[in-house]
Amino acid sequence: MANGQVLVLGIESSCDETAAAVVRGGREILSSVIQSQIDMHAIYGGVVPELACRAHIEAISPVVEAALRDAKTALADVGAIAVTCAPGLVGALLVGVSMAKSLALAAGKPLVGVDHIHGHIYANKLAFPDLEYPCVSMVVSGGHTSLYLSASEIDHELLGSTTDDAAGEAFDKVAKLLGLGFPGGPIIEKAARGRDPSKVAFKRTMLDPGSFDFSFSGIKTSVLYHVRGQDAKSPRPLSADEVGDICAGFQEAVVDVLVEKATRACAAKGVPRLAVGGGVASNARLREKAAARAAELGIRTYFPPPRLCTDNAAMIAGVGYHLFRAGRVSDLSLDAVPTKVHRR
Ligand code: KG4
Ligand code: ZN
Repeated sequence: MANGQVLVLGIESSCDETAAAVVRGGREILSSVIQSQIDMHAIYGGVVPELACRAHIEAISPVVEAALRDAKTALADVGAIAVTCAPGLVGALLVGVSMAKSLALAAGKPLVGVDHIHGHIYANKLAFPDLEYPCVSMVVSGGHTSLYLSASEIDHELLGSTTDDAAGEAFDKVAKLLGLGFPGGPIIEKAARGRDPSKVAFKRTMLDPGSFDFSFSGIKTSVLYHVRGQDAKSPRPLSADEVGDICAGFQEAVVDVLVEKATRACAAKGVPRLAVGGGVASNARLREKAAARAAELGIRTYFPPPRLCTDNAAMIAGVGYHLFRAGRVSDLSLDAVPTKVHRR
């Protein structure tokens, strides 16, 4: 089989989605099955690791089978098996890694461990095959907010990351304190729609001018004081309009910081391409403001369609294909690593 035709089975279980996909040649998505646990975690206002692991164990086999079936292929026809091995909830990662190892061993297929964050970056390559390197990549999700200089599909140099909350985490926490539900991002985006973001303004935390790190806990705390008073214990009833204004002001502050840092990175590295990925990349206000600011600076922006922004296994299969071609395969000692390990 020609290299460009190689089928890769991707498996993803790092957080609260059990997913499997078959991708041909790193670009053609033949199937992508995602079983979300969001409804289960929503009751608790956030992801409960123990419940996530149990749900992954139940879902993983049917999800993998469905991905192969939807792609009208069999395990025997797959060229490699790619799996998210870091970062994420360790118990959750282990479910996918164990599944991938078992399949690789049983079918005699190469095993490829993939960094989940690199997957989020790769979602852009799936959506825009003409994306060129180098480019600046920004991953904004529930667990991560990081900027990279990407030299290829599989080589990413970390420029900066959040020093406290991830952007999506801040959306989730603010939605929780406003009593809006989980996950917070889409709910806050909806509540903010049509509201004036300058009505309730929150400070943008930029850190040092030359720093590509982020900090969102200050904005989150400002929302807390705004809603519950300076002692954080004196809540007052808020009208739906007031909630909308707070959401709009909060979203604007987060978006402004993300856009400013990302475009500064493009300028500093002399790279006129910005690729954004992760759940928060589906935010329409972020897309709009990034596109407008980038156009002023002569930077081209890339945002995957929303279904490729949030967790999926097609992005893992895509990265897996390039690692496989580069000979960067794993053996059966592949471990699940909860923290970020790869600087490149
Ligand atoms: O990438 P993802 O599915 O999972 C992680 O790897 O973390 O991202 C989930 C995060 C959640 O925090 C969610 O609130 C946020 O992405 N999110 C959004 C939007 N859609 C999802 N944040 C802002 N606006 C959205 N439209
Ligand atoms: Zn993710």
